[in-house]
Amino acid sequence: MNVHDSEQMAALLADCGYKTTANVKLADLVLLNTCAIREKAAQKAYSELGRIGLLKKQNPNLVIGVGGCLAQHLGSKFHKMIQHLDFVFGTHNIHRLPEMVATVEKNREKITKIDFHKSCMSIGIYAPPANGARSAFVSIMQGCNNFCAYCVVPYLRGRETSRPPEGIIEEITKLASAGIKEVTLLGQNVNSYGNTLEKQTTFAQLIKEIGAIEGIERIRFTTSHPRDLSEALINCFADEKKLCEHIHLPVQSGSNRILRLMNRGYTREDYLKKVDRLRQVCPGISITSDIIVGFPGETEKDYQETIDMMEKIRFDSTFSFKYSERKGTAAESLEGKISEPEKQQRLKYLQDLQNRHTMQKNMELEGSIQKVLIEGRSKNSEYDLMGRTSSWKIVNFKGNSELIGKLTDVKITKSFLHSLRGKLIEEVGNVHRDESIGVDN
Ligand code: 5AD
Ligand code: SF4
Repeated sequence: MNVHDSEQMAALLADCGYKTTANVKLADLVLLNTCAIREKAAQKAYSELGRIGLLKKQNPNLVIGVGGCLAQHLGSKFHKMIQHLDFVFGTHNIHRLPEMVATVEKNREKITKIDFHKSCMSIGIYAPPANGARSAFVSIMQGCNNFCAYCVVPYLRGRETSRPPEGIIEEITKLASAGIKEVTLLGQNVNSYGNTLEKQTTFAQLIKEIGAIEGIERIRFTTSHPRDLSEALINCFADEKKLCEHIHLPVQSGSNRILRLMNRGYTREDYLKKVDRLRQVCPGISITSDIIVGFPGETEKDYQETIDMMEKIRFDSTFSFKYSERKGTAAESLEGKISEPEKQQRLKYLQDLQNRHTMQKNMELEGSIQKVLIEGRSKNSEYDLMGRTSSWKIVNFKGNSELIGKLTDVKITKSFLHSLRGKLIEEVGNVHRDESIGVDN
C-alpha cells in the first residue's frame, strides 16, 4: 500500500514538473513516506530522516517532506522533533502535495496537514505505469474499521471508505490501454468492499466487472480479513479465470483465546473451514498469511496452537512478526507482556518451520508447467528473465527480452526457498515445444 502511495506522490509531482532521481544528492525535493505499523518501521524512518537532513547542509534550498502513517501520528510534533522538515502530511492528504510543495517553495514556511477527509480523494490519484511495467496497484478502499487490538491502522488511516466502482473500472481500463496486464487491488480489508457505498455492491461483483476489462489478464488483491471472506468471493477462485490462484489471509494466531483478545472476530475452526473451502474450489491455490508471536498473555500453549495451525494448513509463505506495542491501541493496556528473548525464540522456531513448509510447497511444483507473467530481466543473471506464477512465486529462466510482458508457459525444473527455476516452453502452432531439449541448465 505504501509503495502505491509513493507512486501516486511521484505522479502528482511529475505533473508539477518534478522528475525522480536515483541520486538523492541531486534532489531539490525529498519526500519520505513512512510506516508506523511496528516500532522498527518508525525507527527506520527517524534514522533515514537524519541522513536526509545532512543533505540540507550542502543544499540549503532543499525541501524535505514527510508523509504516511508516522506523519499522521506525530503531526506538528514532527517539526519539533526534526528541525529540518519543511512539511508533514498525513495519509489523507496526498492529493494536496502540489499545493504544499508550492507554498513551501514560495514562502519557506513550515506546513502540517493531517486532517481526515471523508471522501477518498487520495486513493483515486492516477499513477501512470512506469515504462515497460505490466503490473500495477489500484486502491479500492482506504482505512479500516476493525480495530484489531494490536493495530494502529484504523487510527492512522481513518475509517473504512470504499471507492465507487466506476472510478476503479475507469482507472483499470486506462491502465490496460497503457499496457498493464495485471492489477493488484489494494485495501486493508478488501472483503468488506462496498459496505460504505450507497449503491449495493460487493467485492466479488467488483472482481467480475474487472474481469471483463479487455487487456487485463490477471487480477490479484490484498488484504483479506478471514472473518469477511465470503462464499461468493471463494467461488470467484473457481469462476473468474483472471483471478490468480493466491490469497493472502492473515491468521495472526492459532489460539482462540488470543484471537479473542486480538478482537479478530473468528476462531481457528472458522479459519480452517475457509481454508478447506478455498482448496475445494481451487486445489492449486497458494495461501499466505501474517502471524504475530508474543501478543500479551500468549502462553506456550497458545503459541503451540499457532504452530499446530501452521502444520495443519501448510502455508506457502508467511510474514511473521514479534508483537510490537503501539500507543493508543487496546493491547497496550493488556497484562502479560512477553519478554523480548521469549518473543525472539518463538519467532525463530516459527520461521524455521515456515521455511521447511515453503520449501516443500515449492518442491511440489517441480516438473509442472506454470503460466508466468514475465516482468523483466532477472536480478541474478543477465541471461535470465524473471516472472511470477499465478500463485505469486518468482520464476527465473533463460529467455530474451522480447518476451517481457508476455504470459507464457514455463516448466519448473528446480525449486528454492524464495524462487523457482524454469525452462521456457514456446508455443509453435498448437504444439508445445520444450525449449529445454538439448539446452544446458
Ligand atoms: N505488532 C506486530 N505486528 C503487527 N502487525 C500489525 N500490527 C502489529 C503490531 N503492533 C502485523 C499484522 C498485520 C501485518 C501487516 O502487520 O500481522 O497483518
Ligand atoms: Fe489492522 Fe486489523 Fe485493520 Fe488489518 S484488519 S489494518 S490488522 S485493524
